[in-house]
This record gives sequence, structure tokens and C-alpha cells, in this order.
Amino acid sequence: MKRIAVFTSGGDAPGMNAHVRAIERTAEKRGVETIGIVGGYSGMLNGHFELLDRIRTANILDRGGTILKTSRCPEFHDADQRAAAVQQLRKHGIDGVVACGGDGTFHGAHLLHVEHGIRIVGTPGTIDNDLFGTDYTIGYDTAINTAAVAIDRIRDTADSHGRVFFVEVMGRHAGFIAMDVGVACGAEYVAVPETLTDVEVLYERIVTQGLDKRTVVIVGEGDESGGAMQLAQRLESRYGIAPKVTILGHVQRGGAPTVRDRVLAARLGAAAVDALLEGQSDVMVGQAGPDLTYVPLEATWETHKAVPSYLIDLSTLLV
Ligand code: F6P
Repeated sequence: MKRIAVFTSGGDAPGMNAHVRAIERTAEKRGVETIGIVGGYSGMLNGHFELLDRIRTANILDRGGTILKTSRCPEFHDADQRAAAVQQLRKHGIDGVVACGGDGTFHGAHLLHVEHGIRIVGTPGTIDNDLFGTDYTIGYDTAINTAAVAIDRIRDTADSHGRVFFVEVMGRHAGFIAMDVGVACGAEYVAVPETLTDVEVLYERIVTQGLDKRTVVIVGEGDESGGAMQLAQRLESRYGIAPKVTILGHVQRGGAPTVRDRVLAARLGAAAVDALLEGQSDVMVGQAGPDLTYVPLEATWETHKAVPSYLIDLSTLLV
């Protein structure tokens, strides 16, 4: 194997740059050249490739976003487009690929392997932490810390005014971010897709647990209620309480990665290069406890990754 490629795809996640750096450095040590595909699957389709070296990947460890850019690429659902992307990989002499992203990224990577025999390994890069086979995804630790700082600030003003706040955090289908920050910030209620959100219980909690009427409710965007805005409207129409609503949104995706994310990104980057060199393909390289894991890409989205039950228990015990 003489030349590998790396790309970042889907929602960007803090730590992706540290990951790209680790891949380039590891490959260089193993005598392999690294190509960066710019703009995720769109860049692969359009032949937007650039040679990475130590200089290009210097001083990026602490930067949020991704120097390789990213995209959502619906064209990749089309088999002809995937075949065109494979032509680009072949034209550029790519022997193996590291795909850093979430389940959408892994679906595409799996198809490249199955349909065209491309040697490809995935690495978990998403703030949602919703991929089976790894304890944590690159970007998650930074996102929960960013959200926690914001929620602490909201609590200050909520407390001063004796107000009810509904704060919506990201997590398209999963409540990892909501549950972790809910416990970390002492939310009076945490609404997540993993548990049924009950407006009566929520109201009861606001009335009985809120201190001096100050209440902070964390709502995962994937909650079946439809999100913070909808939940607040239901509460208002049923009980006449009109909470303030804050949607944290994309602020959770930016910023310098935490030490945890940088170290995870570095370890998985080095391991992904070695996995390719060992002949592995169609797997995600992750980490469980202290160990590296190699999980078939299909399993990462087909097997449900559960929010730890201890978090759900704590979120109700400690209110
Ligand atoms: O997958 C990461 C994520 O930030 C989700 O939490 C969120 O639902 C989604 O991406 C938003 O995607 P976009 O930035 O493309 O709207």
C-alpha cells in the first residue's frame, strides 16, 4: 500500500483536524503517502484531492471544524455516482481510504467496499455519539462541554428571574448529549427519544421541583415531542406556563476540541492507518474501555447503541 486517502463527511465534529493530522503522520512513518479528499463524498465525486504532508497538517490539532471541509452528499445514494467516485479514487492511485463521519458516511463507505472492493475503514466522527461499537465518537466530549457551559449560563438568568427555560441540544436520533448535560447541569427534566416524554410529569416537575419557579428542562432535538419549541407550546396551551426556549444548535459543533477528543482522534487515526495496512476493510475503528475495536460498518448503524441506564436513572433521582 503506497497511497491512502482520508476524508471527513457529514456534520463536522471537533477533533477531526487532530484526526487528519494523526493519519498523515502515521502514514508517513509507515512510508505511505496521504491524500486529503476535500469536501467529503462531493469532493470524491468531483476529484477534489490534495496531497497532505507534515506542513499542511501542522498547527491544526486545536482547531475546530475540518480543514478537509465536509458535506452532506445526497448524490451518493445513486449507484452511478458511486461508480464515478471510484473512478476518481483509481485515477489518483488510492489503495485505501479512511472515512471519518457518522452513519450516513458509513453507509456510503460500506457500499464502496461491497460494490467496488474499495479498501475502506470508518472512524467515528460525530457529536451525536450514536454509533454502536465505540464508547465515544470524536467530537462528543467537546460538544457536551460546550453545551454545559451554555446551560450553566442559562441557569444563572433562569434563577435570577425565576423562569422556566427549555434548552434544546443536538442529537438527531439519540439522547446522549441531552442526558449527559442534563445530569451535569442538574436539569429538572431531560426529554430524550429513548424515553417517552410525558407533559403531565414535566408539568408536575416544574411545579414541585423548580426552585423559586426556576426550572431548566433539557430537550434532545430528536425527542418524539418534536423539540423544545413544540414541547413549550404544548405546556403553554395545556397549563398556561410559557417557558423561554433556547436552541443551542450549531454552536455545539464548533470550537477547539477537548483533550479527550484530541487523544481519541489521534489514537483512532493511527489505528485506522494500521488497520488498512493490515488488510482490514468495511469496519469502523473505535474504542471500548481501553481497547481498540473493529466493528463491521453495518453493525454500527444496525445495532442500537443505548444511552446508559445509569444516566437515565440519575436524571430522575437527582432532581
Ligand atoms: O449529526 C450531527 C448533527 O449535528 C446532529 O446532531 C444534527 O441533527 C445534524 O447534525 C444537523 O445537521 P446539519 O448541520 O446538516 O443541519
